[in-house]
Amino acid sequence: MDQRRFLVTGGSQGIGAAIVEQARAAGHAVVFTGRNEPLIDAVAKKTGAHGLRADVSVSADNARTVDACRDRMGGVDVLVNNAAYAYRAEIGAMDVDAMRKMFETNVFGLVDITNRVVPLLKAGGAGDIVNIASTSGMKGAPAATAYAGSKWAVRGISQCWQAELRPHGIRVTCVCPSEVQTHFGGATGRNNPNKLYAADIAATIMAALDMPRRALWPELAVFATNPWKET
Ligand SMILES: NC(=O)c1ccc[n+]([C@@H]2O[C@H](COP(=O)([O-])OP(=O)(O)OC[C@H]3O[C@@H](n4cnc5c(N)ncnc54)[C@H](OP(=O)(O)O)[C@@H]3O)[C@@H](O)[C@H]2O)c1
Repeated sequence: MDQRRFLVTGGSQGIGAAIVEQARAAGHAVVFTGRNEPLIDAVAKKTGAHGLRADVSVSADNARTVDACRDRMGGVDVLVNNAAYAYRAEIGAMDVDAMRKMFETNVFGLVDITNRVVPLLKAGGAGDIVNIASTSGMKGAPAATAYAGSKWAVRGISQCWQAELRPHGIRVTCVCPSEVQTHFGGATGRNNPNKLYAADIAATIMAALDMPRRALWPELAVFATNPWKET
């Protein structure tokens, strides 16, 4: 891949931080966002990427983020929509305001920042958008109404953007990881060395971006090969 300009949302830890690290190691320019200042600073120091304190659910923050990409890199070639979290509750006991708030990050924030980046990609006549959904957005589960609903929305939105953006040479890839060992949701049940690591998802994304531009990988699920293995 030629040197490209990445914008990664939620790059202060977990999968986002691994993408920042691998993109920088491959020689790309990277701007990333997050909310936790010490974590942002640590990733920026380690990788040489530019970290911004910006909440993807706040449209003024997204405007500032895209301005920073223009100022520091002259634009964006690859947008990775990674920032998200899970609110979990069973139907009959849901706090719908908490679900609405989560959608502000997982869905509306993702749409808002992409809405601001797409004119830059179109102007360049090419580009990549990587939306991180989840296998939770492929199969329902107890207490997953809100989170799975948001990730199902991301998968549907990705298909709409593919239909709209392929004629502009812009690829939209939706990545659906299974359980990954990060601090996501407090990492409950994920502390098994045979399950996926953030670096595995980052490597998958870098491989998808590295495909010939003629080829589009619309959606990919990523599972651990043998999570049942005795540790
Ligand atoms: N871990 C899993 O098992 C798993 C499985 C499937 C899909 N995913 C998806 O993978 C993506 C990354 O998850 P992860 O496991 O790396 O989680 P994580 O370790 O909790 O990291 C989440 C990142 O998103 C950022 N973030 C959250 N809300 C934000 C907001 N409103 N504005 C800006 N940044 C925000 C966090 O930044 P701050 O802490 O600095 O705010 C953090 O950098 C998410 O889309 C998640 O849904 C995860």
